[in-house]
Amino acid sequence: MNPVPANVRLIDHPLVQHKLTLMRKKEASTNSFRRLLNELAMLMTYEVTRDVPMQAVTIETPLETTTARVIDGKKLVFVSILRAGTGILDGMLSVVPGARVGHIGLYRDPATLVAVEYYFKMPQDMHERDVIVVDPMLATGNSAIAAVDRIKELSPRSVKFVCLLTCPEGIAAMTAAHPDVPIFTAAIDRQLNDHGYILPGLGDAGDRIFGTK
Ligand code: URA
Repeated sequence: MNPVPANVRLIDHPLVQHKLTLMRKKEASTNSFRRLLNELAMLMTYEVTRDVPMQAVTIETPLETTTARVIDGKKLVFVSILRAGTGILDGMLSVVPGARVGHIGLYRDPATLVAVEYYFKMPQDMHERDVIVVDPMLATGNSAIAAVDRIKELSPRSVKFVCLLTCPEGIAAMTAAHPDVPIFTAAIDRQLNDHGYILPGLGDAGDRIFGTK
């Protein structure tokens, strides 16, 4: 997809691209896939949190009192779309340990590819929080759209979406449903296949993270 749409932030840093290539390889073990995903999530968080609000605090250095800036991690909520989102979540939490966490359970009906919700748990006071929704694959967009629909019912201050991989179909669907939600991704692949998988992609992210296939 060229040029990259205005609402999409393609994170093409060499470290991110290198690790993503290793993850795509079919021979990558569950162990290395999970470790690489964790590292990629940390690196992507650097870009995703670039504009988060900061606050001034007064601190003592060994030499004097000064004011310096910190992120208010409690205002940030990472929302993991179960189950594959969990793989990204761990890496993000290791660099923003104060973030709150929400979970939304959605599965894709294999026949219709429609997202069906089975779990929804968010922190309190969502209207005061900035939400970052995570799922490794933005494919048909059905799960991402359903997740953001539900989260917006709680009127958060802002919503962003983070994935490893997407494709033109996923971007188009998400942009049509939620044009105000920026999409952060490490790659925009060629297309979806008839089963809703991204090509060339990396296969089923959940199965590869958890070793279930
Ligand atoms: N979900 C996956 O895990 N992989 C794809 O390619 C598409 C959706």
